[in-house]
Amino acid sequence: MRKFVTIWLGMMVGLLLLTGCGMETAASLPPLPTLMPTGLATAVSTLPPPSIDAATPVAQLPTQTPEPTLTPTPTSTATPSPTPTATPIGPCTERMPNDDLFTIVTQTYGLSRNYAPQDLVLLTDYLPVEVTLGYPTELREVALGPLMQMIADMQNSGLQPWILSGYRSYAAQAISWEKWNREEPERAAILSARPGHSEHQLGTTLDFGSPELAEIVGIADIEFHTYFYQTNEGIWLAENAHRYGFTLSYPRASQELTGFFYEPWHFRYVGEEMATFLHESGLYLTEYQLLNQPEPCIP
Ligand code: DAL
Ligand code: ZN
Repeated sequence: MRKFVTIWLGMMVGLLLLTGCGMETAASLPPLPTLMPTGLATAVSTLPPPSIDAATPVAQLPTQTPEPTLTPTPTSTATPSPTPTATPIGPCTERMPNDDLFTIVTQTYGLSRNYAPQDLVLLTDYLPVEVTLGYPTELREVALGPLMQMIADMQNSGLQPWILSGYRSYAAQAISWEKWNREEPERAAILSARPGHSEHQLGTTLDFGSPELAEIVGIADIEFHTYFYQTNEGIWLAENAHRYGFTLSYPRASQELTGFFYEPWHFRYVGEEMATFLHESGLYLTEYQLLNQPEPCIP
């Protein structure tokens, strides 16, 4: 049985986190490009999930409820309407990504329950058990090479990255969501995506872990916690993952726009060009996508 995610963020913790936040706001950035960086429009991708246990990483839940109101409020320029005015092309819940790397997936933009990427690979076939921990995690092949290079470079730097979750099918996410909703109904919506609304269904998203986390948090065997950002693995990923095409989906201060709490372990592969653009601009993917009016759909 996998350990459950413990995400405790009380007032003090929240204040500490925010104090260390160095993210720029969109308001302080130069004008946004109206189009994706050169070459990105033709890039291609998709995504997927881990075992049911891996998809429900929330066992030892904190007794103290996180304080969402501590999250800084994005500026008005970072909160464009999630409902584009262009002609709708169909229900968001019936969207079938064309394997592109930039499919927007949010609490509003969903995916069809029938969508599953076609090029999933099993990470245990490519990475050592010290990284996969033996979990049957899947990832789209398009992201495999960059991931393997990133893991190798992390290990060569003396780090011990773990991969705790990857592709999650619609069904697996539904099980995870039900569990969250049953055990933590008041916080489920900010900690877990509803089925059809998780980037993990795209197969390009991974959750990373660190052997340092348990000591930092003070809970043996804990796998998920906001304090991942304090681990050497978390620090390295935050500073370097973009060079391998991975971007942090839910950084600090992103909750008002994404609806999800800070997840320093959750990275999505979008290719080096886009990831580097986002890193250097201070934007996160959903923020950029909404500013650039994603493909319309009916919520
Ligand atoms: N925890 C993230 C939001 C997910 O369930 O996809
Ligand atoms: Zn995740």
